[in-house]
Amino acid sequence: MKEKTKFFCTECGNETFKWFGRCPACGQWNTLVEAPAEQAAKSRSGAVKAADAPLLNRPRPITDLDGQEELRFSTGLGELDRVLGGGAVIGSIVLVGGAPGIGKSTLLLQICGRLEGQTVLYVTGEESARQLKLRARRLGVEKERVLVLAETNLDNILRAIEDSKPDVVIIDSIQTVFNGDLSSGPGSVSQVKDCTMALMRAAKQGGFTCFVVGHVNKEGAIAGPKVLEHMVDCVLYFEGDRALSYRILRAAKNRFGSTNEIGVFEMADKGLVEVPNPSEMLLSGRPKNSPGTCVTCVMEGSRPILAEVQALVAPSGYGSARRNSNGFDYNRAMLLLAVLEKRGGFSLSSSDVYINVIGGLELDEPAADLATVLSIVSSAKDRVIPYNTTAIGEVGLTGEIRSVSALNQRLTEVARLGFQRCVIPAHVRGEVKRIEGLEIVSVRNVREAVRAVLDEAPERQQPTRRN
Ligand code: TYD
Ligand code: MG
Repeated sequence: MKEKTKFFCTECGNETFKWFGRCPACGQWNTLVEAPAEQAAKSRSGAVKAADAPLLNRPRPITDLDGQEELRFSTGLGELDRVLGGGAVIGSIVLVGGAPGIGKSTLLLQICGRLEGQTVLYVTGEESARQLKLRARRLGVEKERVLVLAETNLDNILRAIEDSKPDVVIIDSIQTVFNGDLSSGPGSVSQVKDCTMALMRAAKQGGFTCFVVGHVNKEGAIAGPKVLEHMVDCVLYFEGDRALSYRILRAAKNRFGSTNEIGVFEMADKGLVEVPNPSEMLLSGRPKNSPGTCVTCVMEGSRPILAEVQALVAPSGYGSARRNSNGFDYNRAMLLLAVLEKRGGFSLSSSDVYINVIGGLELDEPAADLATVLSIVSSAKDRVIPYNTTAIGEVGLTGEIRSVSALNQRLTEVARLGFQRCVIPAHVRGEVKRIEGLEIVSVRNVREAVRAVLDEAPERQQPTRRN
């Protein structure tokens, strides 16, 4: 007799035999998932068995534990190694998330070509083996050590792994893999969770590294299960505007390294190209002699990166003023506008304000505040911030400019890219090392910053008309 399908709530653990959109016990929406049949049976008898069995796995003092460093290997892509914390860890499972078409398959296929002396098993559930071959040819990845398996059944995949004993396994994508024992379809929460768990066990036992592709749906969660994030060792997100060629790889979780590092790539006609110097790329094509743009320096992990913040302030044609922010936190932008209004003495309430960070970068560091404020004022006054000037500093609620971390490292990057002037918070002036060719302007508050950068700045030159 077929056992009745059981569901459980991922929030409160409540079990039911009927599916509800909303958990009857805790009231959360969309949290009921199907419980694997055998797991449900085991959990009931498991408790009794455990008490009777002799204790095999005894607790041991932490001093006696094996303290060997985790073993890593290079993926051959420096930017990916950086995000992983210095290479991939043997036996770990890495989830690579991102919107469809962003370049996840391309990235993982390129790793196959770069790995030296390791056997890779590429399991493709989305594309046929032929499609993969064509792409591999374009990317120049044709090696005997790269094995391809077009398969979606979990058992067959696990059997193929046992059979070919690879060093690296790539699953593209987890949403296509299914376990025949479960009644739900591929891509459902219980399937994705169950298959990931099985792969994780296999990776720890077999000592291979597993890269798992997961699609991000419109809401930004990897299709359905946020649950996956808790299970895997490392979660990478591949981001970027599909209209632009830049892609940013970011770690959302990493059990073996920091989550601050980013990797920057450019999508070219022969796949992804690493961008070791993102500042240069982000500043290319910066307009000269235009109001409403300012350059700042943010820290992405251990790396300083220059970014251009643009603002457009235009008279509002409608009842209420419109505000929009892209690449800069909206609430933070509203706060800065309020500071400018109240402490800077600028009236912006009847103007539309648009803020945009160039290159698809997300600035989530307060060090970008000052540049944002200056570009807003620059646009409002229609005055140009000198082309060779940058600004670094956090803006406080009283309009004061506050210090930021790693200032010297940022200033070195600013000077390296040929900027000759940088506006910084006044009270960290003493900590700044002298850098040849870089003039430091220290300011205490927003008004001083505007005076230093914009009041001496020339009015925008009107294009001269030739007769
Ligand atoms: P893909 O890796 O298939 O995306 P995902 O696996 O995340 O869904 O990338 C597809 C996009 O990348 C597609 O729009 C074409 C583009 N692309 C290039 O521009 N150059 C290339 O060399 C390759 C292989 C893809
Ligand atoms: Mg793909």
